[in-house]
Amino acid sequence: MLIRNATLPDGRSGQHLLVREGRFAAIGPEVQGAEHEPVLDADGWLLSPPFVDAHFHMDATLSYGLPRVNQSGTLLEGIALWGELKPLLTREALVERALQYCDWAVAKGLLAIRSHVDVCDPRLLAVEALLEVRERVKPYLDLQLVAFPQDGVLRAPHAMVQLERALDMGVDVVGGIPHFERTMADGAESVRLLCELAARRGLRVDMHCDESDDPLSRHVESLAFHTQRLGLQGRVTGSHLTSMHSMDNYYVSKLLPLMAEARLHAVANPLINITLQGRHDSYPKRRGMTRVPELLAAGVNVAFGHDCVMDPWYSLGAGDMLEVAQMGLHVAQMTAQAQMRACFDAVTVNAARVLGLESYGLEVGCRADAVLLQARSPVEAIRLRATRLAVLRGGEVIARSAPATASLRLPGRPEQVDWCLQR
Ligand code: FE2
Repeated sequence: MLIRNATLPDGRSGQHLLVREGRFAAIGPEVQGAEHEPVLDADGWLLSPPFVDAHFHMDATLSYGLPRVNQSGTLLEGIALWGELKPLLTREALVERALQYCDWAVAKGLLAIRSHVDVCDPRLLAVEALLEVRERVKPYLDLQLVAFPQDGVLRAPHAMVQLERALDMGVDVVGGIPHFERTMADGAESVRLLCELAARRGLRVDMHCDESDDPLSRHVESLAFHTQRLGLQGRVTGSHLTSMHSMDNYYVSKLLPLMAEARLHAVANPLINITLQGRHDSYPKRRGMTRVPELLAAGVNVAFGHDCVMDPWYSLGAGDMLEVAQMGLHVAQMTAQAQMRACFDAVTVNAARVLGLESYGLEVGCRADAVLLQARSPVEAIRLRATRLAVLRGGEVIARSAPATASLRLPGRPEQVDWCLQR
């Protein structure tokens, strides 16, 4: 097929993209398709590689209100609530909710998700369910799973054994939660053990790390250290890292180069961080998100994740990575032109780097996955949370949405006014 007249995220307009055997075969203003070949007319709108969510919890998604609502809206009540829900879970319900969320994701042009899956339930029901979901969605969505010991790999009985069982079953990435272990020392020990496990098995690492307001939480330092020591550079992610917002500035000036040296990836989760952190503060009240512009300036790859949608921790969300980018932009005050553009990268190319996705992007040879947005640029896409006019997987259109329009009948104005964003 031929995609005609697209604007690309780098600003090039009037581009035609030829797809052969599910991959981009040629891109440029002169490219032509064969006669009678199917054509998707992009009509000048923005064609982007699909959205990628670098941090999600698909085992909990769409469970809002089960078995009860989080009354305080806090992280700790959310964790307690998840503990109440876990024994009530069934594999069928987990699969059904996850598949429903994947449908939402595809409709929003979100075609790759890294999801943590809790391994602390001795039945490993959620692991079984999400492994099934990973296979079922494979034709249209890349689902990468992280073995996540929600209750602490050292704190919860048998958690390490269960985490290893989950990896044996086919879970892709080693997770952790050092700040939730009983002591700072146990947290550091958990980072060591989990990084060594990943190195032994040749796997990537993605830890919930320093997800607190504690300025003295130092687990990301351990994560960078063991990444270097074990030769895991470029394969390890620190997720949340919220304590960095409160750390001493001198200490951070030492930490950032260590993170860059270890080629750590950082994932901020703006919707969740802004609502769950700073909850013990009166005023001034901290924003609770990690230091995104400073991490980027230090050369660290930073992505944004959705983290939660309608679950014990967050009652909102719709699988819309443009909402995530928009919140990240606001919380980090990233309003310079280049910074707004960087927020779009945080939910596309940077997130793809976190997952280690191969053949991602609008380049010749890459799989022809893309989203056509009713916007003229990445910044406008964020501003409007633009309509996903079409979503493509391997060159096939797998979702379409009608353009956003409105018909206005205004007092004192006899004619009907049709609003539609003009190119
Ligand atoms: Fe998370």
